[in-house]
Amino acid sequence: MDMLVVRGGHSLRGAVTIGGAKNAALPIMAASLVAEGTTVLHGIPDLVDVTTLSHVLRSLGARVTRRIDGAIEITVEDQQPCLADYELVRRMRASVCVLGPLLARRKRACVSLPGGCNIGHRPIDLHLKGLRALGAEITIERGYVFARADRLRGTDIYLGGSFGSTVTGTCNVMSAAVLAEGVTRISAAACEPEVVDLGKMLNAMGARIEGLGTPLLRIEGVKHLDAVEHTVIPDRIEAATIMIAAAMTKGELTLHNVSADHLAAVTDVVRSTGAVVEFSDSQAIVRATKAPRPVDVTALPYPGIPTDVQAQLTALLALADGISIVTDKVFPDRFMHIPELMRLGANIRREGASAIISGTNRLSGTCVMASDLRASAALLLAAMAADGESIIRRVYHLDRGYERLERKLNAVGAEILRVVDDPANMPGSLQLSMDDQSTPSIDSSDTPPPPKFLRHHEFGKASEKREANSRP
Ligand code: UD1
Repeated sequence: MDMLVVRGGHSLRGAVTIGGAKNAALPIMAASLVAEGTTVLHGIPDLVDVTTLSHVLRSLGARVTRRIDGAIEITVEDQQPCLADYELVRRMRASVCVLGPLLARRKRACVSLPGGCNIGHRPIDLHLKGLRALGAEITIERGYVFARADRLRGTDIYLGGSFGSTVTGTCNVMSAAVLAEGVTRISAAACEPEVVDLGKMLNAMGARIEGLGTPLLRIEGVKHLDAVEHTVIPDRIEAATIMIAAAMTKGELTLHNVSADHLAAVTDVVRSTGAVVEFSDSQAIVRATKAPRPVDVTALPYPGIPTDVQAQLTALLALADGISIVTDKVFPDRFMHIPELMRLGANIRREGASAIISGTNRLSGTCVMASDLRASAALLLAAMAADGESIIRRVYHLDRGYERLERKLNAVGAEILRVVDDPANMPGSLQLSMDDQSTPSIDSSDTPPPPKFLRHHEFGKASEKREANSRP
């Protein structure tokens, strides 16, 4: 297992190119199951989640290859397999996106229920409700969803739940309805850009979907879909994470390959904290010179603040000059990052679906543990803004959804090393000894005390040792 060693305190400066959207790539790859021929996908990021879904698709009879130019080709060679196994689905819950396409094209599907998730309760009842409404017979047995439908028939479906619309649920029902007989109307459909991207690809294949990007979709079923070539949209969550990195490190970054529209809510928050954000074409410049101002933020379905940026914004506001409240209305329990941010010196109190953050002017590096994908990003941002060295463990969460994030950040001035998670790679500054038990003396002046490094040594020397221990 790897961990990241971060030396904080550097302002990020330079340019970063944002990759293709993970959350568009996954349902789009799954939807290739409905088409005849070879689907060619550009901009699919090189992520663990993409690798996992490739395995799922292979197990379902598809040939999946990454070309030398980075494009992914998917050709269905065998229409018989219908089983998405627990061993694969438990690794990535978005594997459930194969359910709708399998049902539409192969008339049956057996897909494992994904199980628990660190960001909260994540049922798939709305997926099943929508597919049942289309005429599928669905039973849950031995941890699997068994779905069968000799023919799917278009109908009116309300897909809203207690926490709003469902993103992958809309993808599943839409991917099934495109091959149903007659017209399907989905209300309370998810409006996320990733759902729109999937719909656009299905339309290019020959589907007839109207209303993409609105809560009301009208889908006229067709008999046949042909594979196409498609480029996925830029990853708005990666872009938001990098924007926040610029703001937290008082740096200046240019982001290439971004959509201003997709980032409107996050941009509004980042600007409210005092940072400058300017867009031109597919480029953004983010600049910050001062500590952030406090802001109240609520994560909501699109076009609101994405829940996938809630943890990163919490990290940013931990450094604000005052009190901020961050509420998550999509995943009200998604706060595993709070205790770890507090280990870095943040002052945060959780109350139900909200985090009440009393900003501090200094975070101090330490060893923290990532609990999920976006929590890992939040910890990395906080570690980059903290004084001294930090360790982030369980970074496999980060690798699920960010393509070489530490390389991108190092290229603009961060100091992040990926090493094997081994005590030998622990920075000396984080190793307490009996000699180091004295606490810093209380300083009555306004200047915060300097960081107390224990057996502090040069990062460069430590880097050499860690590089030697790191994986090739
Ligand atoms: C997708 C994203 C994920 C993001 C989330 C919310 C992908 C691969 N993942 O996840 O990164 O955090 O959207 O923007 O695109 N719900 C139900 N019943 C259902 C389905 C969902 O009650 O059948 C609830 C969920 O528990 C949650 C809310 O609805 O509270 C939104 O979930 P949903 O949009 O379905 O998230 P995912 O599609 O799983």
